[in-house]
Amino acid sequence: MSQIAFLLNGDLVRLNDVAPTTTLLDWLREERRLTGTKEGCNEGDCGACTVMVTDAGGTRALNACILFLPQLDGKAVRTVEGIGAPDGQLHPVQQAMVDHHGSQCGFCTPGFVVSMACAHLNGRRDFDDQLAGNLCRCTGYAPIVRAAEAAADQPVPEWMAEDLDQLAALENGAPDLLPETADQLAVWYEEHPDATLVAGATDVGLWVTKALRDLRPVAFLGGIAELKRIETGDDVVRIGAMATLTDVGEAVAPLHPDFAELIRRYGSVQVRNAATIGGNIANGSPIGDSPPALIALGAVLHLRKGDTRREIPLEDFFLDYGKQDRAPGEFVEAVSFPRQPDRLKCYKLSKRFDQDISAVCGCFNITVQDGVVAGARIAFGGLAGIPKRAAHVEAALTGQPWTLDSDAAAYGAWAQDFTPMTDMRASADYRLETARNMLTRYVLEDTGAAARVLEVTA
Ligand SMILES: Cc1cc2nc3c(=O)[nH]c(=O)nc-3n(C[C@H](O)[C@H](O)[C@H](O)COP(=O)(O)OP(=O)(O)OC[C@H]3O[C@@H](n4cnc5c(N)ncnc54)[C@H](O)[C@@H]3O)c2cc1C
Ligand code: FES
Ligand code: FES
Repeated sequence: MSQIAFLLNGDLVRLNDVAPTTTLLDWLREERRLTGTKEGCNEGDCGACTVMVTDAGGTRALNACILFLPQLDGKAVRTVEGIGAPDGQLHPVQQAMVDHHGSQCGFCTPGFVVSMACAHLNGRRDFDDQLAGNLCRCTGYAPIVRAAEAAADQPVPEWMAEDLDQLAALENGAPDLLPETADQLAVWYEEHPDATLVAGATDVGLWVTKALRDLRPVAFLGGIAELKRIETGDDVVRIGAMATLTDVGEAVAPLHPDFAELIRRYGSVQVRNAATIGGNIANGSPIGDSPPALIALGAVLHLRKGDTRREIPLEDFFLDYGKQDRAPGEFVEAVSFPRQPDRLKCYKLSKRFDQDISAVCGCFNITVQDGVVAGARIAFGGLAGIPKRAAHVEAALTGQPWTLDSDAAAYGAWAQDFTPMTDMRASADYRLETARNMLTRYVLEDTGAAARVLEVTA
């Protein structure tokens, strides 16, 4: 393998010939004996392996267990060993954890401390969200949140600064593995159509850590700045495939607050900091959270193979379970949707509020004129083998008064659109019934009736 370079707790690391799918967690623990970073689940769920990663875009918490070494090229990594000062002085969040008795067995503590240090550095005070990706089995979360609150007003210690300039001076030693432009990727991928593209690795990481798959050849897309761009124009919002869910959430919040709220329920901070919109579409999952919202907004997918580009309605990309309209060597460049008045409502149903995959995810974009439904785009995850529109329900509603009566009249159309399955997340009947209830809820919310009385919030 070619050479990659990054900072580890302030020191320059240059690596030759490591397997590209070596995870940071394994490398830290086995090669560097930095065993403060813990392995709990090894699949992104528990946060015991949280590390801090800084690049030109800022500082983020990421799960080291599903982070491959090439994803760190040009960045600075800080593990729990680098959170305190070199002379042993504690970081304010570490001191607060001691003062507020935030640790018992201590297994989760390094992960919490790193997440807390990231939130502290970024000035975030929404601690329930910031720490939702870290699980603790013995202390209980109240003392930990109290510690985070207590440290919030302390200044960021000067030893947390990262000197990225020394990395910028180095040449990219791995152009195939780490393309820097979409053009480079297009040429390489057309020549290697069997290759695995790695975006945020929140799916691909598990193919390695759980399925023990060998993915080579691989290309990591994290260095392609143009694919990370989000452009909010007067007519169209265009989101590059490599935009993270964190960045997408921030961009859509002023336009479609319910979409942003749906993204807040997506995995955890660590997962949203890594997962990309392109990966969430390209993986073709029937329960991915962003496709239903994007389809409801009328999104278009931008695909590229070599020099050839094409655009298709996003819903047409999903052909069947595990089958998408993507040719070998073709990749997702971007997804876009028209600017429009906000009528989007998104409802995610999962067993837990945080850090859980949807059983049903329903997104409704219904325009009403003079009390009559003028247009309806309704899309669901979790009701079919693909993210799918509710075409019969849309037709049954369009032209009808926007009332509970019309909602009731559309009742039978749901079973024409969907034949959901029963699995560990939900039964078929429950899925269909809750989908219908979501429409009822939208009508109620939109017509001013109370719909949130029994809502459980974190
Ligand atoms: C703990 C945890 C919680 C999760 N919670 C949620 C959740 O709440 N909601 C949800 O929807 N998902 C969730 N996921 C699933 C996962 O985060 C998403 O599917 C994610 O968006 C995948 O994006 P990625 O960038 O990590 O893709 P990767 O894992 O890097 O890639 C996924 C697939 O897409 C392909 N790919 C990536 N980018 C491109 C591209 N530009 N062109 C062509 N192919 C490409 C890859 O080759 C691969 O086949 C969770 C995952 C974990 C581990
Ligand atoms: S070990 Fe659980 S998230 Fe990494
Ligand atoms: S202190 Fe034991 S798991 Fe959190």
